[in-house]
Amino acid sequence: MDSTNFSSLTALLTSLQEGILTVTINRPDKMNALNRTVFEELEIVLDRIEADTQIKAVIITGAGAKAFVAGADISEFTALAPQEATQLARGGQLVFERIEKNAKPIIAAVNGFALGGGCELAMACHIRLAAESAKFGQPEVNLGLIPGYGGTQRLTQLVGKGKALELMMSGNMLSAQEALQWGLVNHVYTAEELLDKTKQLLATITSKGPGAVARVITAVNALYEKGADGYLEEVHLFGECFGTPEMKEGVTAFLEKRKPNF
Ligand code: COA
Repeated sequence: MDSTNFSSLTALLTSLQEGILTVTINRPDKMNALNRTVFEELEIVLDRIEADTQIKAVIITGAGAKAFVAGADISEFTALAPQEATQLARGGQLVFERIEKNAKPIIAAVNGFALGGGCELAMACHIRLAAESAKFGQPEVNLGLIPGYGGTQRLTQLVGKGKALELMMSGNMLSAQEALQWGLVNHVYTAEELLDKTKQLLATITSKGPGAVARVITAVNALYEKGADGYLEEVHLFGECFGTPEMKEGVTAFLEKRKPNF
């Protein structure tokens, strides 16, 4: 199988080499922002990952040198009512949950900005490796918003409550080295090394018993199942933001390339 089997995809690139499927979010002119098409195509790719025995492991990365993924596509936010925003967030959460619960190992190779939904996508992957230039953050508060694709839950699981609150309440970004210190990423490499190192780690993992690897993933995820209500609380609050003047001002200000006036 090669990328031609995914010929209908427009926002993702795929390539299969030695059992490792590399999935590249390919909207570099929009910092690989997650629009509806990206989510639809991620679902197509996840169907294939789950069904195709040739695929042993997966890398998710971003196209271009600047961004992994700079968040949900903010231009799709302007017309959403609270109820629709809740549904959008729940849909995104369910796609990311399929990544987190996948039986095959999935590593995020974070090659640049991983902001908002991009940080959430990376956190849904089993392991995160970063280039030195990577930057991490949950800047939704800049838009009068909160994370909606699982960020409030997974960031807290990964770095602990105090650090998670700092990142989400301030909207500040972390450098790759800071993310390493915080436990958000496992290793930092040069941009040139990143994909090779990711493939090396996956080659080690896929040399083990795949059933055992899958059960490790299931067992570790079981620790967090009790947090499931937190995800529903998150999408409810995310949807609420869409009824507020501050969210309208935040999103409009971003699209008009000016500072918001909260
Ligand atoms: N949604 C939609 N478009 C986005 C985007 C997003 N999340 N992030 C970047 N883009 C677009 C920009 O609007 C711009 O489009 P244009 O060329 O048509 O004007 C293009 O991507 C390049 O981004 P730009 O802001 O010009 O690049 P930069 O290098 O100055 O800044 C970032 C890079 C990532 C710091 C900045 O784009 C940013 O802050 N993005 C939003 C991050 C965010 O808030 N994410 C959470 C969303 S809930």
